[in-house]
Formats: sequence, structure tokens, C-alpha cells
Amino acid sequence: MSDTLPTIWELEPHTAAKHRILRSYLDAWFPILARHPKAKRVLYVDAFAGPGEYKNGEDGSPVIALKAVLEHSHKFDTLIRLVFVEQNQARCDHLRAVIGRYADKIKAAHKRVEVSGPHCDDCEKLLSKALAAYEAKRQPFGPALIFLDQFGYSDVPLALVANIMRYEQCEVFSYLHGDGIRRFLEDPSKHEAISRAYGGDSWKAALKLPLKQRVTFLANEYQSVLKSKAGVKFVWHFAMHGEGDKLLYWLFFCTNHRRGLEEMKRAMAKVDTSGGSFKFSDAFDPGQLVLFDRFSDKWLEEHLSRHFAGKEITVKGIAEHVLEHTPGVLYKTVLKKLEDDGAIEVLPPYGKRRRGSFPDENLKIRFRS
Ligand SMILES: C[S@@+](CC[C@H](N)C(=O)[O-])C[C@H]1O[C@@H](n2cnc3c(N)ncnc32)[C@H](O)[C@@H]1O
Repeated sequence: MSDTLPTIWELEPHTAAKHRILRSYLDAWFPILARHPKAKRVLYVDAFAGPGEYKNGEDGSPVIALKAVLEHSHKFDTLIRLVFVEQNQARCDHLRAVIGRYADKIKAAHKRVEVSGPHCDDCEKLLSKALAAYEAKRQPFGPALIFLDQFGYSDVPLALVANIMRYEQCEVFSYLHGDGIRRFLEDPSKHEAISRAYGGDSWKAALKLPLKQRVTFLANEYQSVLKSKAGVKFVWHFAMHGEGDKLLYWLFFCTNHRRGLEEMKRAMAKVDTSGGSFKFSDAFDPGQLVLFDRFSDKWLEEHLSRHFAGKEITVKGIAEHVLEHTPGVLYKTVLKKLEDDGAIEVLPPYGKRRRGSFPDENLKIRFRS
């Protein structure tokens, strides 16, 4: 993707929505990881950091991360290291000046927060070097969240995501320009870059599909290669739509921990303008009625009853299914309702459970056929 933007540019509504997701996730993620007994430090890398602010003074993503630490009620006794990488020299210089404005606030906060950079370099090169150095020293790279907010689709090869996700407690939050891929699908000069992004040619199956089905296929296929080739356990994506409600890009979140996915789904749900399909649209009119009841406890009750009809499954299996295959996060109220209605039966051994409670994830449940 050619980058024709000036050093700083105007903030668009979908970017502001992306920033709200990021801030909301970091507000949850930093303290969870900082409290982890084994964490010596928590690492956040904004690998495509940008200039640090937008044309009308709105915060760029590095400032959003910095504020998530400085403004949080948590004390942060565990070191939070924020690393910023920006390849474009003018934007990198701008970012340095923006971060410089926070020097006094960082000191006054008395929190263990450290800013590394901005490093004016190619992030793939720097990240690969850093990962190799940690490996050579046999030091854990995680806990770490790597934000890969590229402009297009050609700067984040699947191999890089795989390399990061090999390490324990590492997560990736990345941008993929779905509209660009869709538009360039038939252009052979772009195929190598698309294959780098997908870690192979499997995306080419989209070429045989009717135009209308291509975008969904491309998103699902990326999700699938993140799991099969980059070894990610949980993947979730969010669609950003622009003017005329046209798809612009997807945000993909990769984690190997259920808690990470729960928090990211909560963060994404807050900016969802579609009532449960994890989508934000610039075309959304806040005055218009949104069918927020599309996803509800009732929906989940019906979905679980249908999906698991006649089957036995553990509470853990239900939790993972809800998280990975429905818009929801919470499920215990729904299980209680299903038990009250006689639609499920809890199988022995019950342990110490009271009727309507599901404290043990190993409890087995049988769904009525
Ligand atoms: C979408 S913008 C980042 C916006 C920023 N994350 C925010 O939300 O405020 C992408 C940035 O990545 C930079 N960039 C492009 N290729 C890069 C690379 N290989 N390594 C590091 N930065 C790169 C661009 O100069 C641009 O500033």
C-alpha cells in the first residue's frame, strides 16, 4: 500500500472507534497482567506507532497506551514497558516530541512505567531481533501485547504473528486492510504480498467465489490460518466500515488465553454499532434505532439448546463455545435459566454445587434432545 498521507493527518470516526477499543482493552489488560505473580514486567509494543497525534490534536495510539497507565487507579508496582516503533522519520520525530510533553506527568505519577523509543525503524526487523535476543537469553518475552496497526496488508506477514505467538502470554492486535485485498485480488502483482499476509496461497480460493462472498471468505480464511499456521488458540475479529457502510478493514485479535478474549470482546462490544456482529460503521447514525436485542440471553438460550441438543458437554466446553462462536462472553445466567426450565440436566458428581450455580468447569451438562 502506498502511503500518501502527510506527517499528521485527520482522525476519522473509524480510527477513533479503533482507539476506543484499544483504550478499553488496555484499561483491563495492564492491571490483569501487572497483578500476575510471575510477571517481572509487562510489555506493550506499538509497532506501527504513527506520529502520536492527529490533525486536530486528538491522541494517537502511543498516547492512548501511555494514558491507560498514567490515568489508571492501579498503582503499577510491576514495570510497564511501552515500546514505540515508527519507520517514517518525520512521524517518528513528531512522536518523540509528543511523548516528550508527558515527561513531567510520567515522573509525577510514581508508577513503574518506562517508554522505550520511539525507534525510527522497520518494526518487523526490530521485533524479529528482539524475539531472537530473548530466545538466546532464554528469557520470557511475555507477557506482551503487540499492536500491529499497519496501513495496508503487506507489512505484517503471518510469519511475524506466528513468531510472536510462540511465546507464552503474548497477544497480537492487528489491522488487515480487507477492502484493499478485495480490490487487488485479481491483480497478480499484489499476490505475493497477500500470500505473505496469509502465510500461503489458501486465500486464492476467493478468486473462484462470486464477488459477494469474497470478503467473508477472506476474513474467515485469515482467522483460519492464524489458528492453523500461527498456532493461535483464540482469534476474534472486528469489522470497520466507512462512508456508505463499506468495509474498510478488520481488526484481528489473537490470544492463547480465554480471559484475554473475554476482555477484548467486551472492549469491542462497546463500540459495536450493529447489535452483536462486531462491526463499527462511520455511516452509523447515533439517532437511529439499533436492534440491540438481536444478541441477548434469549438468543443464547436458544442457540445453546439447538447447538448442543442431545449432547453432553462440560461447563468449560460451553464457556469456550460461547466465547469463540457467539457474540457473548457470559453464560451462567443462561445455564441457570435452562436448568430451571428443565432444558439441561447436570450430571453427577455434583461436588458442592447448589442448583442453578456452575462453580466447577468440569461439571458435565446434558442438553435435552
Ligand atoms: C495506521 S498508521 C498508525 C496509526 C497509529 N497506530 C494510531 O493509531 O495513532 C501506520 C504507521 O506505520 C508506519 N509504518 C509503515 N510501515 C512501517 C514499518 N515497517 N515499521 C514501522 N512503522 C511503519 C507508517 O509511517 C504509519 O505512521
